[in-house]
Amino acid sequence: MSRLRLGVNIDHVATVRNARGEGYPDPVRAAEAALAVGADGITAHLREDRRHISDADIDALAAICRRRGRPLNFECAVTPEMESIALAHRPHAACLVPERREERTTEGGLDVVRGQATIAPVVARMTEAGIRVSCFIEPDAAQVAAARAVGAQVVELHTGAYCQAVREGQPGAAAILERLKTAAAEAHCLGLEVHAGHGIDYETVKPVAAIPELRELNIGHFLIGEAIFIGLGPAIQRMRELMDEARGA
Ligand code: PXP
Repeated sequence: MSRLRLGVNIDHVATVRNARGEGYPDPVRAAEAALAVGADGITAHLREDRRHISDADIDALAAICRRRGRPLNFECAVTPEMESIALAHRPHAACLVPERREERTTEGGLDVVRGQATIAPVVARMTEAGIRVSCFIEPDAAQVAAARAVGAQVVELHTGAYCQAVREGQPGAAAILERLKTAAAEAHCLGLEVHAGHGIDYETVKPVAAIPELRELNIGHFLIGEAIFIGLGPAIQRMRELMDEARGA
């Protein structure tokens, strides 16, 4: 199986920094550390309420990724403000996500089926600017087809429900994994590149990484949490090893 890329999401370094309202720890330093140990790219979500990543972080992350020739995956809501920030930076990729201010994290996938008319022109303008656009969706055939219809090049399958089901020992976990596999195969058949992410930890990474159509995982919260105990570099390296084992490398 082909090698799976690992995008490291550094949002929660900014969460810790913002708890003090000062400059430490710096998510840009975390991004540098992640790239130094083999992260294939950096993912950051500029939320509308700026609760973790700030505009200045995006400026700095875009600069270091450009300098190091590594992709920045800019996660954002489908709003005029986020679109103009994406167009100003022209990151390697933009991942369109749903956003509700009161949610703690991105709770579900983007409803591309219902939002098609709003999403399609945004995808077109970003694509025209050279940005590779991804839609973060639930593993569902209609959402996959809609992502293709709006012109996205990539879908990122939401693994949150699967990871939560595994953590809670829910009997439905296996069925959710099957839905992820089916959606990955459907997306691949439609010519979409397939990514996955949300909630992945050492326990859930292998079943997800073993889905053959996947090309990239985006992982954040668990790695930043694990960095408290073993350090960011070793946490990323361990995740990398598990991904490689799952791919039979
Ligand atoms: N992918 C997307 C689209 C996300 O919104 C997030 C969370 O910001 C992640 C991946 C990473 O999720 P986690 O932080 O739970 O690993």
